[in-house]
Amino acid sequence: MKKILVRIVGIVFILFVLIQVKRPDRTNPPVDVAAVYTAHVNVPEDVKAIVTRACYDCHSNETKWPWYSNVAPVSWLVAMDVEEGRKHLNFSEWGSYKKGRMIKKLAEIEGEVTTGAMPMPKYVTIHPEAVLTDADRERLSKWAIDEGERLSGRE
Ligand code: HEC
Repeated sequence: MKKILVRIVGIVFILFVLIQVKRPDRTNPPVDVAAVYTAHVNVPEDVKAIVTRACYDCHSNETKWPWYSNVAPVSWLVAMDVEEGRKHLNFSEWGSYKKGRMIKKLAEIEGEVTTGAMPMPKYVTIHPEAVLTDADRERLSKWAIDEGERLSGRE
């Protein structure tokens, strides 16, 4: 019985070492200041602080890659979230969105923040600094609504 257990642990360890070979793409594409969202919408300092603290790791090109993003299989999951996150919404490449898309993204931000879907709960568990208080959520969603209306010309 003990022998089998030792073998299983050994096999798991070898597999763990082997999967380390597959390293995910952990890049931070260059940031063009002119394309960052702050250059295209009005972003008060307090809103900017919330976005940087709670959203930037997955929705910008300025991801802070944590140490465990070096260790497979966690590294694959982290890289997948960042890739998906950037695809859906990238504050660093906001300037590439047409006006209609910006308005849509602002509405989506309001929705995600109000329902509590974002920042991803599993992320917040290991990043307590990204926890949003009710006041943070209200601030962010009000900002998104206001900016959306301003862009739509219905101020
Ligand atoms: C741990 C990574 C992570 C963090 C942190 C994070 N997001 Fe996301 N976000 C994702 C991923 C992955 C998706 C795409 C899949 C999905 O919708 O769940 C996404 C999707 C979105 C979408 C698009 C939804 C749609 O309908 O396409 C919005 C808007 C969004 N996030 C807003 C935010 C905001 C605002 C914050 C900060 C308050 C934030 N996210 C924090 C990973 C993250």
